This record gives sequence, structure tokens and C-alpha cells, in this order.
Amino acid sequence: MFETTLSELEVQARQQIATAKTVEELEPVRVEVLGRKGALARISKELAKLPPEDRARVGKLLNAVKQSLEAAVEARKAEFQALALKARLDAEWFDLTLPAPEPERGNLHPITQIQNEIEDLFTSLGFTILDGPEVETEYHNFDALNIPPDHPARDMQDTFWLTDGNLLRTHTSAVQIRGLERFTPPLRMIAPGRVFRNEEVDASHEHTFYQLEGMMVDREISVAHLIYFMKTLLSAIFGREVTVRLRPGYFPFVEPGFELDIQCLICGGAGCPVCKQGGWVELLPCGLVHPNVLRMSRIDPELWNGFAFGLGLTRLVMMRYGIDDIRHLQSGDLRFLRQF
Ligand code: DAH
Repeated sequence: MFETTLSELEVQARQQIATAKTVEELEPVRVEVLGRKGALARISKELAKLPPEDRARVGKLLNAVKQSLEAAVEARKAEFQALALKARLDAEWFDLTLPAPEPERGNLHPITQIQNEIEDLFTSLGFTILDGPEVETEYHNFDALNIPPDHPARDMQDTFWLTDGNLLRTHTSAVQIRGLERFTPPLRMIAPGRVFRNEEVDASHEHTFYQLEGMMVDREISVAHLIYFMKTLLSAIFGREVTVRLRPGYFPFVEPGFELDIQCLICGGAGCPVCKQGGWVELLPCGLVHPNVLRMSRIDPELWNGFAFGLGLTRLVMMRYGIDDIRHLQSGDLRFLRQF
């Protein structure tokens, strides 16, 4: 009687184990058959009622069934694990023979490149590189540069004023003042940086662009010194002779002041949007430092004088690479930037 029950139980349990599709389905089957209160445990309790001569035989059988069902459960679990592993590996599979993707190589922005070159040149000529704040005081940007409040020259540069009375510097000339305040002559400095103008944007105007200011203060500096440094600068930048012209130019912080123009390298002087059809590009305004500027920074103009220049880095890059629209430079367009 026990034998039949046991063998029926075994057949049924094996079938349930085999048809369980997940560990979650298998577990109740295991509990029901092999658990502490399961079918086999219940039968085991009944064994006590058997006569001793049968008890050992049926007990043995019960143990055998128990062991074989336990093994079946374990085997089924192992199958589930193998299936799960296979599914995971299938999902993770990748082709080790594929060539690795090329690492994306970055490069410096063309303005940074040209700035670095000019910095190298000027440091080799004994100039110090200075930094100044982009948010400037009215004093450093205007007053100390001999541009008092009601001076018409303030209208030459459309200024972004801040509500606290400070401003976004309209030129790196403001850093001249910071240099004069910090050092005593003789001094040579350059100051590259971003400047801001409240301007309508078009092919040759941006609200944000880059300049590089230069200043040298020493004894008996003349226009000849200025021209020497400007020629050295331009031939280093372009790596060749460029056609230049010097015109008188008015800037309140220099006297005399000049506009150094170069012949447009885009059109060769024939006229194009960059040179506004004129064939020349204003590149390098410069001059001899106005005595008022020195005086305001407590430097005696009887003893010291100097030259200053304000190089348009953005325009220079456009000339060098033949870029016909200033807006490309800050567009963040990688197709544009990858060319440099
Ligand atoms: N700061 C002037 C501007 O942005 C450029 C300039 C002119 C700078 C003459 C100079 C200079 O140092 O001497 O328009």
C-alpha cells in the first residue's frame, strides 16, 4: 500500500518538476513534496504504524524516493541557471574582432592657437602676460584711459552696462591700467582676453570677441619702437610679408594714435564682405601712450613714455584662415572646429 502511494507520488512529482518553467513555479512543488510538512514527511510519520519487518523496507524506499526527487529538483534548478546564463551571454555578446572606434582627438580653438603663438613671441621679447577681469569698473575701462564720462569716445563702443555700475569690458585696454597700477616702469606687458560690445551681429561683428593688448613703458620710446614691434608681430603671425598701411587714428589713450591696416588676405584687396569691399582690414590700432594715462596711474610722463596696441585676435584668425563669417568662431559647430 505504501509502495503504491510512494511510486504514484514520485511519478506525479517528477512530472510537476519537469513542467515547472521557473524557480518560482518549482519552489511550491518542492515544498509540497519534500518540505517539512510535505507529502513525504507525512508518509514518514505513518511508518511508525507499520510492523517492524515492513518498516525498514518501506523506510528505505521512502528515502530513495526522497533522494531521487531532491536530485530532480536540483537538476531542474541547474537547468534554469544555465538558461538564464545563456540568455545573459546572448544579450551581452559582442564581436571582439571588430576594429576599435578611433578615439576622438580634440584640438585647440584657432583663437587659442593664435593667442598661444603671440604669447610665445612676446614672452621671448621680455613681455609679461597679464589677466584682467571681464567684468570691469567704469574707471579701468574708461576714465583711467582718458575717456571721461561725457567724452564722445564712449559712444565709439556700445557698452553692456551692469546694474551695479560696472560693465563688461569693451576692450583689453582696461588691463593696461591694471598693469600700470601693479608694476612700476620699465614694463612690458600683453593682455589677451575676451571683450564685449552691445552690437548688432553680422558677418564681421560679434558681441563677444577676442583682443590682445600690448604695452611697453620705458624711457624715450618712439614711434620707431612701435613700428619695430608691430612688424615683428605681423611677420611672425602670417609667416610672410603682409602689405600694411599706417593711418592716423584717434583713441583717447594714445597720442599720436594710429590705425595699422593690412591688405585683406581673403580677397587680396579686391573687396569682399570681410573688408567691407574696401580691400583693407583694420587690424592693429596703436599709438604712443597718452601722458594723461600715465599720470592717472601715478607714473611721471616727464620720465616715462611708451606705446600700446590692441590687436583684434578674432579678426586676425579670420584673416589667417580665410574665414569669411565671424559667427562661425563661436558657433560651437564641430564641423567648423575640426578644420584647425
Ligand atoms: N582699445 C581699442 C579698441 O578696442 C583698441 C586700441 C587702440 C588699443 C589703440 C590700444 C591702442 O592699445 O593704442 O577699440
